[in-house]
Amino acid sequence: MIERIETLQNEGGAAIAAALDPAALEELRVAYLGRKSELTTILRGIAELPPEERGAVGAVANHARQELEGLLATRAAELEAAELEARLAEDAVDLTLPGTPPVAIGHLHLVSATRREIEDIFVGLGYRVLEGPEVEHDLYNFTALNHPPGHPARLVQDSFYVDPTTLPEGALNERRLPPGPRDVLFRTHTSPMQVRAMEAGPPPIFVIVPGTVFRRDTIDATHLPMFHQVEGLAVADGISMADLAGTLQEVARALFGPERETRLKPDFFPFTEPSVQVDVSCFACQGSGSLSGGRRDPLCKGTGWIEILGAGMVDPNVFEFVAGYGYDPARTQGFAFGMGIERIAMLRHRIPDLRLFFENDVRFLEQWR
Ligand code: DAH
Repeated sequence: MIERIETLQNEGGAAIAAALDPAALEELRVAYLGRKSELTTILRGIAELPPEERGAVGAVANHARQELEGLLATRAAELEAAELEARLAEDAVDLTLPGTPPVAIGHLHLVSATRREIEDIFVGLGYRVLEGPEVEHDLYNFTALNHPPGHPARLVQDSFYVDPTTLPEGALNERRLPPGPRDVLFRTHTSPMQVRAMEAGPPPIFVIVPGTVFRRDTIDATHLPMFHQVEGLAVADGISMADLAGTLQEVARALFGPERETRLKPDFFPFTEPSVQVDVSCFACQGSGSLSGGRRDPLCKGTGWIEILGAGMVDPNVFEFVAGYGYDPARTQGFAFGMGIERIAMLRHRIPDLRLFFENDVRFLEQWR
């Protein structure tokens, strides 16, 4: 009998150790320790054994039961741990992976991306970035920029005038001009911020002003009634035309490539004297004017140069308007420049039509990530 008990203990122990899941374990518990199991039957029958056998059989049988119970508990814990482990592995989430957005991630519009690139270049040169009002006084847009009323240069930038009586009370700065029917307009350029920036503090001043501008233009491949510019103003002791040339050369190289050369040509703007047009050597033909096979370069129209912006030394008449803010028209020197953001982007990416920027066809926009 003792041998039989030991066999049951060994068999049961081996089966329990090999059980693969809680259900199999439960079957083994019933088979080896259940009420109808052989071991239970033996334990129940001990009283009927001859007295000299009872002690030994009872001890072995109880020991076997305790052993099997212990093994069952240990194996149950093992299986539970393994199951938990498997579930965790299955449900594992890698938190370092990027999420799955329900729609494709957006990106900046080419105008915004180009604007930021230009801002970065100037911030690197020590300029501050300012913004200004898109609805502007005639005073800042024209008069203080040396376009007095009736000046013919106003015509080329004719704009949308706002009826000031429709503006909320207090919106008009009545400090300088009494409101009249044509004194408030959508700004035609970012240049008015030159004057506003100087009113805000004495020199030195190094600022750029990116923003939206409006003109009463007809719509074609290079004209729209709304576009974007970046204005620049540098006023400090001893600033000269050489600083203007050097600064804009740096900017042209940052935008169009380190090999680029720049040249200044005489131009006219009412608020700068002298005024220049800044050209950059053509990046399509490397300044030669012709492409491979002697074909005339259409980008620079065979000239080897591309106009990128207008600039000049701030006209003393502009300083006259801010003389009360620390700018002496007889002594103060500075330079200013203005460039079109879309124009820069069109040149860099060979975009043939300005309207593409604002039709917002995603097939176009997606090309400039
Ligand atoms: N405001 C001019 C325009 O819209 C651009 C410009 C030219 C700005 C020369 C300047 C400048 O500051 O110096 O056409």
